[in-house]
Amino acid sequence: MLKNREIMLTKYVWLLPLLASICLLYSYDYLNEIKFNCLQKGLNIIDSIYSSLNSDSNSVSKFNTEQKVFTPNQLKKYTNLKDGLYISILGQVFDVTKGAKHYGPGASYHAFTGRDASLAFITGEFNDKGLTDDISSLSVQQVKALNDWVQFYNENYIYKGKLNGRYYNEDGTPTKEFHSIQRILVQAKEKQFEEENKKRMFPPCNVEWNPDSGTIVWCSKKSGGIERNWIGVPRMLFESSNFKQYRCACVNLDSKEYEETKGMVKEYDGCLKTAIKCVVKTNNL
Ligand code: HEM
Repeated sequence: MLKNREIMLTKYVWLLPLLASICLLYSYDYLNEIKFNCLQKGLNIIDSIYSSLNSDSNSVSKFNTEQKVFTPNQLKKYTNLKDGLYISILGQVFDVTKGAKHYGPGASYHAFTGRDASLAFITGEFNDKGLTDDISSLSVQQVKALNDWVQFYNENYIYKGKLNGRYYNEDGTPTKEFHSIQRILVQAKEKQFEEENKKRMFPPCNVEWNPDSGTIVWCSKKSGGIERNWIGVPRMLFESSNFKQYRCACVNLDSKEYEETKGMVKEYDGCLKTAIKCVVKTNNL
């Protein structure tokens, strides 16, 4: 019996190195597959971070399978109903054929088709000088407004790809100018956040005028459209650095924001320190 087993073992001993090498090869493939999957996942994460960044403020562009990089000459073709109506804004191309009543030949916004005329979306100048993709003359707020148009097209029309030129390179990668626009948009977002925060800290007062009492300002838990759990008292808030202009703001006297910005806040003449309603003698609120 034992002898039989020994014979069997020696007969099949050559199988061991064979099995070991199969195992090794398999694990090598397997390792490669793991590496490939990790790489793929990494790329997907980068892709989704980039697109979420864009769709937020974004909102620069939607990624879809039909992405293409147009040359300016290729885009020029899309100005009619036969080929389609395409526009480009900040280097992103959209098919606006379904909006032919606005963009078709003879329609009010036909000048936008077949080109990138980003500047005219803000200036409304539909002449040769105005129909350009150079937006260096725009303010931060105007760049933000232009980006709102991009969002509008993303939401209402079909994204077709990128335009090679000022904002995208031939291979579709963003240019320096694209990145500088992104920085301006970040600035705009920060400014908006700052302003919203200020509005929450110092909500506008309610205002009423009648011929008998004149102008009355008062605070409530909803004044200025800011819902809150405090009422506040009306104060003159000097927001600009020249200390000439002010607005009526409801101030929470117990807040740390008030403590920190006391220098910007002034009481209305003839109004009690803790009154939530004041009769204002001046026309300038
Ligand atoms: C900077 C100036 C302006 C620009 C860049 C502009 C741009 C546009 C664009 C691109 C559309 C089409 C939107 C879509 O695809 O649905 C549009 C629609 C329209 N615009 Fe303007 N516009 C400007 C000024 C004005 C002014 C001053 C008026 C009116 C006095 C006006 C009235 C309209 C109207 C009535 C529509 C059609 C809305 C609809 O049918 O849904 N636009 N505008």
